[in-house]
Amino acid sequence: MIGIGTVGTGALKVLTGHGREVERRLGCKVELKTLCSRTIYSKDLSWLPRPVKLTKNWKDVVSDPEIDIVVELVGELSTARAIAHAAINAGKHFVTASKQLVAEHGMELVERADRAGVNLGIEACVAGGTPILHAIREGLAGEHFSAVYGILNGTTNYILTEMERRGCSYGDALVEAQEKGFAEPDPTFDVEGYDARYKIAILAMLCFGQPVAVESVPAEGITRIERVDFAYAHRLGRTIRLIAAARRRYGRLEIFVRPMMIPRTSQLAAVTGAVNGVLLAGDKAGDTMVTGRGAGGEPTGVAVVSDIVQIARSVVSGGTNATPLGYRHWHPARVVSDAQHEVAAYLRLVVHDKPGILARVSTVLARHRINIDSVLQEPLQPKERMPFVMTLELVKEKYIRSAVEEIARLPFMAQRPLMLPFADLP
Ligand SMILES: NC(=O)c1ccc[n+]([C@@H]2O[C@H](COP(=O)([O-])OP(=O)(O)OC[C@H]3O[C@@H](n4cnc5c(N)ncnc54)[C@H](OP(=O)(O)O)[C@@H]3O)[C@@H](O)[C@H]2O)c1
Repeated sequence: MIGIGTVGTGALKVLTGHGREVERRLGCKVELKTLCSRTIYSKDLSWLPRPVKLTKNWKDVVSDPEIDIVVELVGELSTARAIAHAAINAGKHFVTASKQLVAEHGMELVERADRAGVNLGIEACVAGGTPILHAIREGLAGEHFSAVYGILNGTTNYILTEMERRGCSYGDALVEAQEKGFAEPDPTFDVEGYDARYKIAILAMLCFGQPVAVESVPAEGITRIERVDFAYAHRLGRTIRLIAAARRRYGRLEIFVRPMMIPRTSQLAAVTGAVNGVLLAGDKAGDTMVTGRGAGGEPTGVAVVSDIVQIARSVVSGGTNATPLGYRHWHPARVVSDAQHEVAAYLRLVVHDKPGILARVSTVLARHRINIDSVLQEPLQPKERMPFVMTLELVKEKYIRSAVEEIARLPFMAQRPLMLPFADLP
């Protein structure tokens, strides 16, 4: 095992704590041979049941002929990739928790593993402790998926659901998430949707057999959501979640990460706190929801150990798992821009209040062929920064975007309008 940080320590605790259970399931023991980390000699490993070999150099692990399975939990992409290549080339089965490695180089790893006749374990890369990748790849291998929707980032879900539950500001919820260890000191990777982008790219690969370039996935974060948006959302029977989605549309793939207004009764609305949830829409099994702890040492450690168990089973039976990414024949993804689709939307405007504002905004919307469905205003708002909301009827998103650009330039606007699409998820 290379990389003894949060996940490495969690995986060690699971492997040692559940050793007997694992042995009963396998009919043989998984023996921990070597632990590798840069600061391994200063770590307190006295709680391990028996001494293991320690090293600071990962090359000692991949070159050891007694080792069957290499587990990579270092995080940094180029190191993870170098370890993957060296381990697979040396004929070792390979387990990783790195979403970047799998999203950006998954196909390459599968080809190398195929040639070397070894297995890949990737369950920990998406939604930590949940078995979502096994569910798609094995449990639902007979299904045809039309869409996959996920709440894939615990940090942003914690922030949004605390804003909703307690009516606190985005800034206060973020600070609290940082204090509780749910958010990094620099939260950009999570709050801007970049983390969820890697995960939805992997889910799309497994659901549709189409490789997706991560940078082609549009990502929008949650930093512009304010507490007043939840007040309006509730009046509309909705709530706000950061949704990562991939769906088939007329032979093309639509894929994105963005905050959306979803029904309060939808299954993803029930995913609260630092939890992950994935909703799979299939044409025969219908909707399947998987939810659970998407991060943290021990939950993610369970996913790592589950991969180790699965690989050990195939070692015992002499087979290999030839389809770690779910497909052997791939189709290129024709990714369609979401701007081409029709959406109904929520538009929040904050203005310096004066007569005639509604007429000016309505004129711009009409010019872009957009019908207003309703206008909402919470009472007793400050006149100098007054928020109000328009809900817009179904129209191509590109028209809404052009209208938003124009409205943003109107002289009475106190800040840029916020547009959130409605998503009628089950
Ligand atoms: N944290 C989560 O909840 C979570 C959930 C799902 C997936 N993941 C993924 O799991 C992986 C590990 O994340 P983490 O949170 O456990 O990270 P972490 O706490 O920073 O741990 C990384 C470990 O890797 C070691 N390391 C780094 N470079 C190394 C090198 N060149 N040689 C040997 N060891 C090296 C570090 O060593 P030293 O401590 O000795 O310096 C550290 O122990 C990442 O790919 C992450 O995306 C994390």
